[in-house]
Amino acid sequence: MGDLCVVVGATGSFGRAVTERLVTRGLRVLAVGRHEDDLAALAAEAAGVIPCVADIADDSAIGTISAALDGPVRMAVFAAGLPVAGSVETVSPSDLARGADIKLGGLLRLVRAVDARLAPGSRIVMFAGTLGFEPKASSAGPGAINAGVFNLMRQLGDVYGPRGVTTHTLSPGPADTPRVHALVERAAAERGITVEEQWASYAAGTSLGRLPTVAEIAWAVTLLLDPEADVLHGGVLSLDAGGHRGIH
Ligand SMILES: NC(=O)c1ccc[n+]([C@@H]2O[C@H](COP(=O)([O-])OP(=O)(O)OC[C@H]3O[C@@H](n4cnc5c(N)ncnc54)[C@H](OP(=O)(O)O)[C@@H]3O)[C@@H](O)[C@H]2O)c1
Repeated sequence: MGDLCVVVGATGSFGRAVTERLVTRGLRVLAVGRHEDDLAALAAEAAGVIPCVADIADDSAIGTISAALDGPVRMAVFAAGLPVAGSVETVSPSDLARGADIKLGGLLRLVRAVDARLAPGSRIVMFAGTLGFEPKASSAGPGAINAGVFNLMRQLGDVYGPRGVTTHTLSPGPADTPRVHALVERAAAERGITVEEQWASYAAGTSLGRLPTVAEIAWAVTLLLDPEADVLHGGVLSLDAGGHRGIH
């Protein structure tokens, strides 16, 4: 029986690719999401996937996830989506609060659920995003909430490092996912340009000239399975094809 990982948001764009890679490496994945049918479909496609229906925005997720664990947790990954769009002028304040409950509250719920099952070498892996440290007026929610994620992960690093449990914040730029497709279509309509022109402007925001792929993002997560990845403890991995301009 393979070591156990937990992936919150396992049926999402990044979460699915991460889950598929982990099971390919012989690990088992407790796949967390709210929709039973989607989780069952994922489990039917990939041996080693164990469905776990839970809403990470609700405290009951702590008990639901912890009750489903049957051994040490090698890696706990938070990859749930953030359904908050709009600028500071248009975003719904309630949506902003709900988004914070999903990602900030949800991160702590995941960590509390797995805490007793973490051992030296276990990984806590969290998806943030470049907007958290390079704010854009058009994306108030991902900006503000992911800024909080960076801070919270540093705090968790201080707490878990002495236990030999490492923390890793992933900072993707926009990737080729359905969520970004929807954003591109909306932005193109707002700017009165074609979808192709809007994609080109996203790609031009990277120095590689293209957006990261989902497979590349998932690869970065499996990299953290290597024992040498201990050295990355507490850090942020930029997964943005050169979109991030700041030096830090
Ligand atoms: N996509 C990008 O280009 C991009 C760029 C930068 C950062 N990020 C960050 O990366 C993370 C993943 O992005 P993504 O595009 O892969 O997201 P996504 O496809 O929208 O993720 C959806 C997944 O999250 C689950 N989920 C949503 N709310 C949940 C809840 N309350 N409880 C449990 N599961 C929940 C969904 O399952 P159910 O609906 O069944 O619950 C589904 O499995 C996000 O946090 C995002 O901010 C993404």
